[in-house]
Amino acid sequence: MKTLVILSHPNLASSVANRTVVEEFKKSSQNITIRHLEDLYQGYTIDVAAEQAALLATDTIIFQFPFYWYSSPPALKNWIDQVFDYNFAYGPEGDKIKGKNLIISTTLGGPQEAYLPLGYNHFRVGELLRPFEQTAYLTGLNYIEPIFTHRCVFSPEANNKTEVEERARSHAKRVLEQLSQLA
Ligand SMILES: Cc1cc2nc3c(=O)[nH]c(=O)nc-3n(C[C@H](O)[C@H](O)[C@H](O)COP(=O)(O)O)c2cc1C
Repeated sequence: MKTLVILSHPNLASSVANRTVVEEFKKSSQNITIRHLEDLYQGYTIDVAAEQAALLATDTIIFQFPFYWYSSPPALKNWIDQVFDYNFAYGPEGDKIKGKNLIISTTLGGPQEAYLPLGYNHFRVGELLRPFEQTAYLTGLNYIEPIFTHRCVFSPEANNKTEVEERARSHAKRVLEQLSQLA
């Protein structure tokens, strides 16, 4: 089974969590291709044909990103807007990604208790990810249970780099286990 990771992180050099997750993906023996959007493209213009070709060649798609303002960084939204095109992902002939799997894999700063009705973020993470879920339904992707990890902000003052790296490694392990199950 082939997996395509669409990685969106505006500054991977300063990342701890997503960089660690991606390093674990690279170490894996599974057939994983990673496309880092902000590395491939500097502005809004992207190579839609190349992105669609990458999608056609895969069985499973992973959207890997840090949770920003209850969603993804803008490069991923821009990518979806352009790549999930009429008669490709939706419309009368838009069945090209139908039947592939979609896994949302995201790291969050906030703790688990914040993402509860009485917490400061009020909504559960799964609820906030609904636009991705509905996008999957409309395009015929199999929406796999999202994988997310709380408390992923590295802070030099908190001296928590090792902790965040451990969380990220365990996050990657869960994603890789999910891929094995799908295979
Ligand atoms: C612009 C911005 C928006 C953020 N929004 C959220 C948010 O809505 N919820 C949350 O839990 N964390 C939020 N965070 C924290 C990030 O999710 C966290 O820093 C990231 O997952 C850490 O991953 P990294 O080490 O790969 O950068 C935000 C961070 C930034 C910079």
